[in-house]
Amino acid sequence: MSGKNWDRVPIDAQSVDAPLSTAAVFLVVTVAREQAALAKVAAVLGGLDDLVKTVGFRDLGGRLSCIAGIGRDLWDRLHPDSRPKELKPFAPIKGAVHAAPSTQGDLLFHIRSERPDMCFEFERILLDSLGAAVTVIDEVSGFRYFDARDLLGFVDGTANPTGLDLPASALVGDEDAGFAGGSYVVVQKYLHDLAAWAKTPTHLQEEIIGRTKIDNIEIDDDDAPRKSHKSLNTITDADGNEYDILRDNMPFGRPGKQEFGTYFIGYSRYLWVIEKMLQRMYIGDPPGAYDRLLDFSTPHTGTTFFAPTRPMLQAIVEAAQK
Ligand code: HEM
Repeated sequence: MSGKNWDRVPIDAQSVDAPLSTAAVFLVVTVAREQAALAKVAAVLGGLDDLVKTVGFRDLGGRLSCIAGIGRDLWDRLHPDSRPKELKPFAPIKGAVHAAPSTQGDLLFHIRSERPDMCFEFERILLDSLGAAVTVIDEVSGFRYFDARDLLGFVDGTANPTGLDLPASALVGDEDAGFAGGSYVVVQKYLHDLAAWAKTPTHLQEEIIGRTKIDNIEIDDDDAPRKSHKSLNTITDADGNEYDILRDNMPFGRPGKQEFGTYFIGYSRYLWVIEKMLQRMYIGDPPGAYDRLLDFSTPHTGTTFFAPTRPMLQAIVEAAQK
């Protein structure tokens, strides 16, 4: 999965390093309890690669990709013999002021393309083939907003790892050799209070985010009384090593319903890194000094998955079908 030349991979399944796209669908479903539903899901997951090709080949420029993430409960049903070391359901967090809920989800499909119609077509056929085996819990269509800005107006995704740092941050390594190349995925659907944000002076918005708004320059806030979003999400261990994650957040919304959101999606080699970020955002560092982004952004979902590599996914679903 690493060392891949993005330009040469127009269509792909299970590639965490697929290019960030202009459109995406985030689809979360649960799987019915019956054995037949499990068998159906295993068959569809086994054919995911072919489905990406079927739809993606209709326009290679659309660069269709899809990643399937599997939640802990479904993992144990599909593959009771072993599971990725850290895989567990999203742990809800209760801070003094803000809370992060944990919501249901057996499967996540992160569908990306340069064309919204391609994401739509892929999702339509996918859901058609899954049929009554699944129940849709959440479905969000995201779009790239100008120069990769979120709806708060800030450029989102700048500090993402690139090059060799990308697999080192996002993909499991030798520490869990049986699952190497896979990735922990955490999603949260946030809704913003844009009216309150618009009343907040730009210099304060910049203090909250930790970057300037127009030109996206990082603000050094080491001596600031309150840490910014950027600083709360900078994770280091006792030896000073920094741990990054790969984010592919997307704005979404319906202005007619006053719905303005950010769909947060983080891929990580270690689940604990994202959990630590969330602890720091919601509880604060020091405790009480929580992320003020949360005064304007409320999470409505929170779910954890593991995205295995393509061969790993094939092996799991083949074993489940026997
Ligand atoms: C940085 C927006 C939620 C982790 C940033 C930046 C923005 C942003 C504008 C600065 C530019 C960049 O480096 O990307 C948002 C919005 C969110 C959200 C609008 C939801 C409402 C989260 C969550 C996490 C997270 C839930 C982790 C669990 C990070 C990380 C960075 C970052 C790791 C980079 C920090 C660094 O500079 O090293 N975010 N974010 N974000 N965010 Fe978020």
